[in-house]
Amino acid sequence: MANAHLTIAEVPIAPVSRRLFGSFVEHLGRAVYSGIYEPDHPTADEDGFRTDVIGLVRELGVSAIRYPGGNFVSSFKWEDSVGPVEHRPRRIDLAWHSMETNEVGLHEFSRWLDKVGSELMLAINLGTRGTGDALELLEYTNLPAGSSLADQRAANGRSEPFDVRMWCLGNEMDGPWQIGHRSADDYGKLAAQTARAMRAFDPTLELVVCGSSNSQMPTFGTWEQTVLSHTYDEVDYISCHAYYEFKNGDIGSFLASAVDMDRFIDTVAAAIDNVAKEKVSEKTVAISFDEWNVWDIERWEKVDKIHGVENWPQAPRLLEDVYTVLDAVVVGSLLISLLKHADRVTSASLAQLVNVIAPIVTEPGGPAWRQTIFFPFATTSRLARGSVVGVRVEAPSYETVQHGEVSLIDAVATRDDDGRVSLFVVNRSVAETVDVTLEGLWVVDSTVMLSDEDLAASNTAAEPDRVELAALAHDRDEDDRVVLHLPPVCWVAIELSPRRVGR
Ligand code: AHR
Repeated sequence: MANAHLTIAEVPIAPVSRRLFGSFVEHLGRAVYSGIYEPDHPTADEDGFRTDVIGLVRELGVSAIRYPGGNFVSSFKWEDSVGPVEHRPRRIDLAWHSMETNEVGLHEFSRWLDKVGSELMLAINLGTRGTGDALELLEYTNLPAGSSLADQRAANGRSEPFDVRMWCLGNEMDGPWQIGHRSADDYGKLAAQTARAMRAFDPTLELVVCGSSNSQMPTFGTWEQTVLSHTYDEVDYISCHAYYEFKNGDIGSFLASAVDMDRFIDTVAAAIDNVAKEKVSEKTVAISFDEWNVWDIERWEKVDKIHGVENWPQAPRLLEDVYTVLDAVVVGSLLISLLKHADRVTSASLAQLVNVIAPIVTEPGGPAWRQTIFFPFATTSRLARGSVVGVRVEAPSYETVQHGEVSLIDAVATRDDDGRVSLFVVNRSVAETVDVTLEGLWVVDSTVMLSDEDLAASNTAAEPDRVELAALAHDRDEDDRVVLHLPPVCWVAIELSPRRVGR
């Protein structure tokens, strides 16, 4: 048994940005086809969308959704995905070695977004294409009327513009795996030129330039510095991507993945401040952490990867990770890291949403269910209100192989205008229950906990509700302070109100 103390700060870090609870749908595997869209499914609506999935996406509480990729976007022709469905071409997708039918495209996806109540975050192809194509897409989506492209959109069934606000200028352009991968200098120039041209159309667009694909990239740091030196005045965000893997049985390092995320964000924030200083700019470019999750990348590389000039399957089962309790605790702690940096990270996307490294899974013709990682995301999205406030943590630490010495406990909180607090805490100890004392006087309004004696437990088609949230045990000490009893490897969310006399 170990003990820890938490003190919830008074001073806010930043407002809770709803965009922190974004997600990502890529034309990859079964994310779209038999994920969100399955016209023959018993729950399909008039547009062919699965209403069981729509219900779960709504429950998840997702804000903006990044689309249509990912690696997919880097050789995607947006024109293929609009117009009469029967005329749309079938194209090979080199990123995932699959066949894209284009049955679902911009119009269909936008209709689906209306149904789930989310905003479109559109990525443009800066891999095989460039500024001209980006401008045509922008004119097609955002010009109200009067040009051939705007009229084409209307003829395709959408007279009102899509009015897309957030645009990603390519995807992971630092990665050698990316089709059209470029040096930082080349990409920075292309992104700046494209951003300037897009702003000539509408200066209020929100533009995201590509940062590093992860913090282990050999160019990490210099990439940000160079790209921002070209684009600083033209963009609003720089992206970060990070996927965390449970490797070699090193549970201690895996549970401390958020330490890497913290350092990643701090390093990118420092690069932003550096460039702002060099340019004597008053502006601060924000961070869009627009791909993050736990992902068994090794399994994808060794088992899933598709090969063969004659082999281009349609909607294959790719990246269908089955998430465990352990994974979900890590996802909860990554959300804590994002909230702790709410002054710098104002947009984020859990990658991805359905079937592909996803919180929601479907079977074709069958059920849809929640994976373990669904719970910390949905709970944090629901409970994070008002402003983010820091939490001072006094707790024992442990040694990790990858991240050095790490606190057993991590925490963050939000406070709304009525003083109600939502507190999010992770216990990284694999062996010990930690009794966490909250400084101050609080009333506990609700608790939820994600924990299980079997860290490998997961939800499956056979047992879709094997893992669920439970209540967290708590009581008071002799000084009337709340004491939370956190079992080993758990993530918890607690709603608190300030205790007034007589309560
Ligand atoms: O989310 C899966 C892939 O991971 C995305 O397509 C790519 O951007 C990243 O490498």
